[in-house]
Amino acid sequence: MALAGIVAGGIGSRMGTDMPKQFLDLCGEPVIIRTIKGFASHKDVRSIIVGINPDWYDYMDELIKKYFNGGVYLTNGGYDRNDTITNIINYAEDRLNSGKDEILLTHDAVRPFINHRMIDDSIAAMEYCDICTAALPATDTIILSEDGKIVSDFPLREKMFKVQTPQTFRLGEFKKMLVSVTQEERRKITDACKLFYMNGKSVHIIAGEETNIKLTYPSDFETATAFIRHNA
Ligand code: CTP
Repeated sequence: MALAGIVAGGIGSRMGTDMPKQFLDLCGEPVIIRTIKGFASHKDVRSIIVGINPDWYDYMDELIKKYFNGGVYLTNGGYDRNDTITNIINYAEDRLNSGKDEILLTHDAVRPFINHRMIDDSIAAMEYCDICTAALPATDTIILSEDGKIVSDFPLREKMFKVQTPQTFRLGEFKKMLVSVTQEERRKITDACKLFYMNGKSVHIIAGEETNIKLTYPSDFETATAFIRHNA
């Protein structure tokens, strides 16, 4: 059995809406509810902990009561993504009796198309690695630019991947990684995979999905809506 940690501490500034994007309605249900349901319906996920932006704690609490009958818990999000994960882990240890070896699948609240195959593969990967992330081969050519004006490198497309979530590890491992970096380094490493990588760990890839999009800009909502209608 594993835990899911839904990171929802952001405000969605690039979406430009009054309400954080995780709460926006997507074909009849708030985005974050769709995301949570993706985990709640999996037999190997025992509980789901949501790390929410503190200004929206009460609002999220009401949503959880409306849509779920237990198994979904709430804690505050943090200053950055890894702080939100830390709060989720503290909640799991203090309130859900989690030990250091418990598996945690961390997932963006704004990726509502998580599927069971990605959850299965993430949990299975914990048999052979310390951390894994969902990722997809890059389809566009990726260029590197130091200043956003001049191209400084053309990395080989075959070696480029787009990172998605879930990113999965054991609770104790994440905490070990965190204490081994300074506060200053910690502020620069907002991603769990980068944190493990900086500590010399191999970050393994499990196959993501083209549909596992992150809702960042209004146009992503149009894509998500079309996808739901197409599959209805
Ligand atoms: N996130 C989080 N805690 C933070 C910042 C972000 O849990 N302090 C979460 C977001 O809520 C989101 C995920 O990380 O589910 C991916 O981040 P992103 O898409 O960048 O979300 P926002 O930070 O909300 O968006 P923006 O950068 O446009 O403000």
